[in-house]
Amino acid sequence: MTATIDGRPRAIERGERLIDLINRSGIEVPHVCYHPQLGPIQTCDTCMVEVDGKLVRACGTLATEGMNVVTSSPRADEAQREAFDRILGNHLLYCTVCDNNNGNCTVHNTTKLLAVEHQEIPYKPKPYEVDMSNPFYRYDPDQCILCGRCVQACQTLQVNETLSIRWEDEHPRVLWDGGAPIGESSCVSCGHCITVCPCNALMERSMLGEAGYMTSLSKPALSGMIDVVKGIEPEMGYGAILQVSEVESQMRESRIKKTKTVCTYCGVGCSFDVWTKDRHILKVEPAEGAANGVSTCIKGKFGWGHINSQDRLNKPLIREGNGFREATWDEALSLVARRFSEIKAASGPDSLAFISSSKCTNEESYLMQKLARAVIGTNNMDNCSRYCQAPATMGLFRTVGYGGDAGSITDIGQAGLVLIIGSNTAESHPVLATRVKRAHKMHGQKLIVADLREHEMAARADVFFRPRPGTDLIWLSAVTKYIFDNGLANQTFMDQWVNHADEFKKSLELFTLEMASERCGLPVETLTKVAHMIAEADGVCVLWAMGVTQHTMGSDTSTAISNLLLATGNYMRPGAGAYPLRGHNNVQGASDHGAMPNYFPGYQEVADPAIRAKFEKAWNVSLPPKPGLDNHMMIDAIHEGKLKAMYLFGEEMSLVDSNANFVSDALSKLDFFVVQEIFFSETCQFADVILPASPSLEKEGTFTSTERRIQRLYQVLEPLGESRPDWIIIQDIANRLGAGWKYEHPSQIYKEIAALTPLMAGVTYERLEGYKTLQWPVAEDGSDQPLLYTKEFHFPDGKASFYPVPWTEPTDQPNAEYDLHLNNGRLLEHFHEGNMTYRTEGIREKTPCTFVEVSPQLADERGIQTGSWVQLTSRYGKVRAQAVITTRVHGRELYMPMNSTDEAVNRLTSSHTDKATHTPAYKETSVQLRVLGEIGDDPLPRTNSRHGHPTPQTGVEVERKWKRKDYRQPGDHLVQIQTAKS
Ligand code: SF4
Ligand code: SF4
Ligand code: SF4
Ligand code: FES
Repeated sequence: MTATIDGRPRAIERGERLIDLINRSGIEVPHVCYHPQLGPIQTCDTCMVEVDGKLVRACGTLATEGMNVVTSSPRADEAQREAFDRILGNHLLYCTVCDNNNGNCTVHNTTKLLAVEHQEIPYKPKPYEVDMSNPFYRYDPDQCILCGRCVQACQTLQVNETLSIRWEDEHPRVLWDGGAPIGESSCVSCGHCITVCPCNALMERSMLGEAGYMTSLSKPALSGMIDVVKGIEPEMGYGAILQVSEVESQMRESRIKKTKTVCTYCGVGCSFDVWTKDRHILKVEPAEGAANGVSTCIKGKFGWGHINSQDRLNKPLIREGNGFREATWDEALSLVARRFSEIKAASGPDSLAFISSSKCTNEESYLMQKLARAVIGTNNMDNCSRYCQAPATMGLFRTVGYGGDAGSITDIGQAGLVLIIGSNTAESHPVLATRVKRAHKMHGQKLIVADLREHEMAARADVFFRPRPGTDLIWLSAVTKYIFDNGLANQTFMDQWVNHADEFKKSLELFTLEMASERCGLPVETLTKVAHMIAEADGVCVLWAMGVTQHTMGSDTSTAISNLLLATGNYMRPGAGAYPLRGHNNVQGASDHGAMPNYFPGYQEVADPAIRAKFEKAWNVSLPPKPGLDNHMMIDAIHEGKLKAMYLFGEEMSLVDSNANFVSDALSKLDFFVVQEIFFSETCQFADVILPASPSLEKEGTFTSTERRIQRLYQVLEPLGESRPDWIIIQDIANRLGAGWKYEHPSQIYKEIAALTPLMAGVTYERLEGYKTLQWPVAEDGSDQPLLYTKEFHFPDGKASFYPVPWTEPTDQPNAEYDLHLNNGRLLEHFHEGNMTYRTEGIREKTPCTFVEVSPQLADERGIQTGSWVQLTSRYGKVRAQAVITTRVHGRELYMPMNSTDEAVNRLTSSHTDKATHTPAYKETSVQLRVLGEIGDDPLPRTNSRHGHPTPQTGVEVERKWKRKDYRQPGDHLVQIQTAKS
């Protein structure tokens, strides 16, 4: 299809908007409210063009065959100018003293594009105050041009539904929860609105007074300057004034550095530019991240207080008596090398163990496992995927072959149905959740949620049910059996692609709907409805997380999920498949790169002689053949006196491992313990040597996100004090033990990884330049696989496999003494225990402490109210916390988030584990609750978004603007506007 634009034919892409076609053709037409990631908003009217003689909005019009478009006819020109003049009536052009004058301000750039010299409609301030009530950003109504981008983003992309514009008001403005202060609204501080705002109306507070050369002036001085500018404008025109501001803007380029990085928190893998002025973080600017586009959550957008925190470790520390003393690097590294050598000589290489960080880079995990295997000679190597993700990986290894998400986040957005099991996605994987919320709200995607709690995704679901704790495998198996029994399975797919169907069907005999109903506490009707929805959907994606994996049957339940997907043909197609949601930013990558007791990088077995021979040749050493200890076994081995030394980096093991008291006790028994960290963590208490490391912004490398996406992070800042990137420290230790490594940059490490790892064969830093990404497996020629299974499954015969799984009773069940079930998990604002996020003041302000959620029923029964102090005691320990009464939890279920180092929920959890992987059964915990009698304030302050009242609507609802009496479409009545041209 072609359209003619300004006399030239242009090929149209399928479904293309006229504004996109015009932009792609290199023709400049103003478009202030349009944003490709938000779609047409149609509030600004600046994109008026003539199509077949009629004025239309280019953003709101689809390009069609034969269309004759004129972008700069006198009518179109005048309409664009009139529309923009109205915008200037809402916005004061004081660019030279504006923190948004950074070359990317849409209002500034449009003024220049249209060569506006004077405005017809005078600027009029609005009768509202600037809102400074959110710790991270502010809204200035006087600068707001009412484009509605922020509203559209909040309502249809983030789908938090906080923002609206009441177009009927005499002086419309953006409203939070219909008119609340931002700080008391439902705003989750995700930053979408600020990122898409085309001017300075919404700005990060970290930018204010910092970005410009003259923006830190006092308010009176600033107002004076603005008055001067206004005074000279009638005489000089905007052209001359803009020239001054552009010089100032160019000067900023020499001191504002913009560096691409990847988020350090969850596994979604958001990437963005970090703007810095010296060490000051001006802002985080997402734009073109493969996973996130313009999206972020509160942590990625604002949670960077840890970087310049006073608490950063910046010198090595060596234990002295009950405390620590500062040491030089030379002294600390020599001590580590000497003690490792002595312990190896005295007790053998398997008396040492190594734990890699899921927060650090792929290259760092690779070096850590190389140190363990090639330098020390042990496979005692693990990472924290053991605490969460290993069972999901096992379920996928058993059924489809690869331990990774079946597709991309875009597939999740495209699915006809999303089924979420045991995942608080909106808080744990916030940006990924936005894709589900958007598809559900805007595109009719169906959503089923199975969870103990009615969290945000559950509240939004078409079907939400609460199976009894630890019974997911039963209802999944019953639904699968029902699908088989009622001819709803995808026979063609199974015949072609899946082995062991008969054996599997037989294994399901026990799982009738009646049995599932009784054991799971669910109505049969719910289960049949779920079965039909799954069988009839056009593509099903199942998302699951720790609510499934952290059980004694976590691997089996993960397997049951994959079995169900195979039975319904929900693999090998876009918009379908299994999506275990990886928790940490690089938990996928740490395992992919060999930080495991039984695998070299790329899941190559250490027990396989041919594989071992390959690594022995490359590393020029002989390697131990026996798989090593995993995290869980390491703790037991310390208690048994077999494990003497440990080297751990970037992991708060003493708090995040289950049965924390037992783990801490073990760590205190080690003969020699090295902890590499950015803060003095709880785990550091047990160390003999503490090595100060650098966080993500201070180093280069790669992370791999939940969708198997490998992305580069670039160094934003120099390491603080004497801290060093982990890869440098690991190399220094290896070399002091005689390794002779000579890596000068992480890219050299990756070159070695790629050469030894078929899964990553084609990964190079050049192919990951800037915002480029690769999703493994990556062939030598650089081709990757966003959709994991296209031609075959990852088994020798190319077929998937049904894998029968039995159900086992959960451990640690409630009884008369420990009568309540305790669930636990993440909170939106904090990452895990909060070692990093508590260092951001605004986050601390919104979520200062942990708490325990209590249902209204239980609260009534025990006389508990929000703010009551209670003590929870399990079979393993006790903690104190304040109660929050909420319908999110039901009956005798409690929930405690992990964000505490003082009252860590893992003081209550047990040492029971998943049978196949040793992942702790964190979610199988029973407690007793004692009301302590003291009552404090609500542990969630008034400024926490949970207290807000969202105002859902379908977007900015521009039709309501068009209905205003004072609105008419520009161009209807031409207004003469003076321009440089005229
Ligand atoms: S939730 Fe808050 S920060 Fe996020 S888009 Fe809405 S108003 Fe903006
Ligand atoms: S605050 Fe919202 S409506 Fe106002 S200019 Fe910014 S994006 Fe547009
Ligand atoms: S924490 Fe996760 S969702 Fe939030 S910005 Fe980082 S990667 Fe994205
Ligand atoms: S860009 Fe088309 S109406 Fe605003």
